[in-house]
Amino acid sequence: MPEHQSATGPIGVFDSGYGGLTILRSLASRLPQYDFLYLGDNARAPYGNRSFELVYRFTLQAVRELFSRGCRMVILACNTASAKALRSIQQHDLPLIDPSRRVLGVIRPTVEVIPSLTATGHVGVMGTQGTVASHSYRMELNKVSGEIRVTEKSCPMWVPLVENGEAEGPGADYFVEKYCGELIESDPDIDTVILACTHYPLLLNKIRKAMPEHVKILPQGDLVGESLADYLRRHPEMEIRCRKQTAAEDSAARGSIEYLTTENPEKFNPLASMFMGTAVVATGITLEG
Ligand code: DGL
Repeated sequence: MPEHQSATGPIGVFDSGYGGLTILRSLASRLPQYDFLYLGDNARAPYGNRSFELVYRFTLQAVRELFSRGCRMVILACNTASAKALRSIQQHDLPLIDPSRRVLGVIRPTVEVIPSLTATGHVGVMGTQGTVASHSYRMELNKVSGEIRVTEKSCPMWVPLVENGEAEGPGADYFVEKYCGELIESDPDIDTVILACTHYPLLLNKIRKAMPEHVKILPQGDLVGESLADYLRRHPEMEIRCRKQTAAEDSAARGSIEYLTTENPEKFNPLASMFMGTAVVATGITLEG
């Protein structure tokens, strides 16, 4: 490893495309003093219906890229990548690449809050085909509470609607109503629904309207932000390796956010700016390896 172990770097945030920006936004708002480096593999999105092997390979390429740009920690802000690649990367690749770095996912922080939210014990999970087929949420929920009944629903049209800038359009209504209706029909006692895909918060208003009023809808951003803040508190050795502005000199110091995309940045920037609520200027890169 050419870099010294004590070197600091931005926190890497990876997603197949735009969805991870919903997580990045929460992370940057919860931890404003840190630097973040976002990577969207937009050229190869969506990952949702790709094979385990491909999602793992693409995700590992992205993690290596973020490491090579100085990140000491990478958040897989993508449920599909967290479900299909996180464990292999943590167990097999990280020890060989650099055991001092960390790769964390979004599934565990999301399921931890569920037992305190559901009154009926019936929970819905809406995600990509890949996330649903992996049953990662069912397994993780069973670990936090054996009492919870989980119904998983894949929503294959939602990511393409978001990736193509149609989330607000009338065309999205049909598929939002269809998948929400099918989920509730398969278990009418569901009172809590996890949006287990980082693209879905862009459809939140429509999802709220399509669900029965008493059902709690759970986007992940703030949960992941809170969980990362807690992680950094509990791991001071990692906290000092994540670069941040020195609050001692300037209490209002804010970290920077940089963006990488495998797509043409001119295509990425307008939609990414909409996700972030601020102007985004990305650098285009190619992932290999
Ligand atoms: N946003 C990603 C997720 O959370 C995946 C979207 C996709 O590439 O299919 O699962």
